[in-house]
Amino acid sequence: MTKVSPSMLSADFSRLGEELRRVEDAGADWVHIDVMDGMFVPNITIGPSVVKALRPLSGLPFDVHLMIEDPIRYVEDFSKAGADMITVHTESRGNTMKAIDKIRDLGRSPGITLNPRTPFSKVRKFMGKVDLILIMTVQPGFGGQAFREECVPKITEARRFIDDNGLDVEIVIDGGINRETGRKCVKAGATVLAAGSSLFSLPDMGSEISLWKEFDSE
Ligand code: DX5
Ligand code: ZN
Repeated sequence: MTKVSPSMLSADFSRLGEELRRVEDAGADWVHIDVMDGMFVPNITIGPSVVKALRPLSGLPFDVHLMIEDPIRYVEDFSKAGADMITVHTESRGNTMKAIDKIRDLGRSPGITLNPRTPFSKVRKFMGKVDLILIMTVQPGFGGQAFREECVPKITEARRFIDDNGLDVEIVIDGGINRETGRKCVKAGATVLAAGSSLFSLPDMGSEISLWKEFDSE
């Protein structure tokens, strides 16, 4: 089944705990947590202390997306805070391979991610080392942006590479995902859909998530 990872960036930040329970009750598979440092992207969001505060409230895997410079400095803090998956950008400053190795050494699942304009060829060397590839379909920094269609061939390319090499890597898509774009991504080979605004704006997040979970069997 297609997995769904609602992005807490679109939650009501004054009621984060209740929003997390809403996500869990809606049948989400993972929880997507966007970390921004105001350097790698022009926005600042949350840090390890918030992840730590949320951890006891949910049994779902926390999928932490680090949009920060030199991410190796913080992977241990996020691991201690209870992140299950920690994803780093190939475009960020610092040694990405070392950051991935460190995440693995900490007993967490490493992920690699890339911006819309970065080609798949730039992350090929990480594919044997990660548990997930997060393909950005908007420029990172803000929720609520429009899906970039030109990124779809990159999903197909990642799918082919993973299959051809017999790898076990989840393909997560992040940015502008709704019912239509999500379906398109799954058809191209995605296994996980991360989505903020389109899910949190709904009074009934659960029925939308149930529908998305069936995309892979359509
Ligand atoms: C963007 C974040 C996304 C964002 C997605 O920088 O990485 O996870 O929350 O939000 P929507 O689904 O609204 O595009
Ligand atoms: Zn994200």
